[in-house]
Amino acid sequence: MSGRLPDAWMSELRSRNSLEEVVSEYVPLKQKGRRFWGCCPFHNEKTASFSVDSEAQLYYCFGCHKGGTVINFVMEMERLEFMDAVRLLADRAHMELPELVSTPGEARLTRDERERMYDANREAARFFHSLLWTGEGAGALNYLYDRGLNDSDIRRFGLGASPGDWDGLLRHLKEQGFEPELLEKAGLANRRDGRWFDMFRGRVMFPIINAQGRVLGFGGRAMGDAQPKYLNTAETPIFNKRQGLYALNFAHKERAVGHLVLVEGYMDTVSLRKYGVQGVVATLGTALTEEQARLMKRYVPEVWISYDGDPPGQKAALRALDILEQQGLAAKVIDYPGGMDPDDFVKANGLAGFEALPKHDAASYRLLRAKDDLDMTTQDGVTQYALRACAILKKMKNPVEMENHLRRLVSETGYDREILLRQIGAAQPGATPPPRRTIRRAQEAAPTDTLVAEQALLSLLAARRIPRDMVKPGDFSLPVHVELAEWLMADKPAGTFIEDIEDEARRAQAVGALSYTPLPPEREDAVRLAEDCLQTIRASRADARTDEIVSEIAGASEAQKQALYQQLDAMLRTD
Ligand code: UTP
Ligand code: MN
Repeated sequence: MSGRLPDAWMSELRSRNSLEEVVSEYVPLKQKGRRFWGCCPFHNEKTASFSVDSEAQLYYCFGCHKGGTVINFVMEMERLEFMDAVRLLADRAHMELPELVSTPGEARLTRDERERMYDANREAARFFHSLLWTGEGAGALNYLYDRGLNDSDIRRFGLGASPGDWDGLLRHLKEQGFEPELLEKAGLANRRDGRWFDMFRGRVMFPIINAQGRVLGFGGRAMGDAQPKYLNTAETPIFNKRQGLYALNFAHKERAVGHLVLVEGYMDTVSLRKYGVQGVVATLGTALTEEQARLMKRYVPEVWISYDGDPPGQKAALRALDILEQQGLAAKVIDYPGGMDPDDFVKANGLAGFEALPKHDAASYRLLRAKDDLDMTTQDGVTQYALRACAILKKMKNPVEMENHLRRLVSETGYDREILLRQIGAAQPGATPPPRRTIRRAQEAAPTDTLVAEQALLSLLAARRIPRDMVKPGDFSLPVHVELAEWLMADKPAGTFIEDIEDEARRAQAVGALSYTPLPPEREDAVRLAEDCLQTIRASRADARTDEIVSEIAGASEAQKQALYQQLDAMLRTD
């Protein structure tokens, strides 16, 4: 991260946002000793397995194994990036963000200025919307009616009309006390030859609202043939096209749906949603970006690409597929018939039609597209297709799924299974090198009681119940334990370590390591517990080493055997 926030400021932020208080704003908690318990907000459950350790200021769910600090909690609940979670907590505690930090561009913006931009956008959205119901907005209102929307749809999405003159919005916002300079920064106004004028004129307006309900910018559609067809808010300190998604304010409340439906257009979003499709979001006038894929991944494990059914839409779908897969999202693709877009399709076929459409998995969709420019009635076309198909199948990870495609390919192309398999090459099922089991086993089989001992030691260390020099990083086996030990031995706060871990499984391990309970309150007892733990760890190491030596002896030369026996003796003596 560029420009870290000062430690002192961060620790004040943490102490002013106690975890149990923040969590209580989302789920009821019950106190039992130093722990609070409640139903986990991250997965569905009836019995409380979500715990907040008020002393360590860490949460952990024993059901879904999510855990972290108050910042991780807010990131997870509100689907925010680290800095935005910090910002939210700072607002909550009425703290100013320190100057130096954060990304360039954003850096010079005070919290007040950001707030003013949000306010200006919200006021602009209200103004555009109210204009629809006046004579000035009649054209836009009729346009929306013509596109099949009714008043309630229009209100639900906060659609609007921008005035046709040069500065209708400017005049209104100036009356409300907004400076033109601020409106320019927010992408609402422009200055040319010393004259101010509105950015959006005579367009149908789609407000872009984030998950926290703030208006970040607009998409404005021309009503006639004016160019461009859609004009979007330029990049501003609060609006980044590459990082946002349209309709996230709705998707935010639909996490139970389990997937998102990704479309290209504002109208597609509004239309699908009007007919009852849930989870629909759109990119903001650019191709799908990595950032947007990561954002979606914070909401759901799966995305349905629902782009226009024409060739440009199909090409874009293939690119989106790559991006989603790179970010570890499962992806499916909807191929609208007859080159239709989602808006046309759902108007003609309704929700039932949408639901009945096949959702192609990634490989099926790629195979479908591989035929597009080939004449499958010629041998040459079939051969080309077989070659492309083998290249696609080669990348498949799941042998069972691959088998299904392989069978279909045999019947489609008439090539022998053996020939196709040879073409697919090294990735054919069964021919993959066996996974390196021995190494994995050794880790998985690490005796549980040593892991618990390591956890207890780390918890003792974090709570400062034992002297720091009682342990060494070498006493720990899990990599994350080793790092955490080094961190704590340098007297750094556990919270910062946890927050820097992006990988959830790893973060859960770290939180687990700090959640050992009960910790003896008396220092003397704490030290005794630590000694027991160290004893457990060392004994188990010795056991493992003994086993190793014994097995080495079996295959050793006479000379080597003598050395190994000596080692064994030495170990047994210290025991
Ligand atoms: P489309 O032209 O497919 O939009 O562009 P659409 O939603 O189907 O438009 P209608 O139905 O004609 O109203 C898809 C998206 O690409 C962006 C917009 O985000 C649009 O929703 N776009 C398109 C622009 O940003 N500028 C343009 O000039 C055109
Ligand atoms: Mn359209």
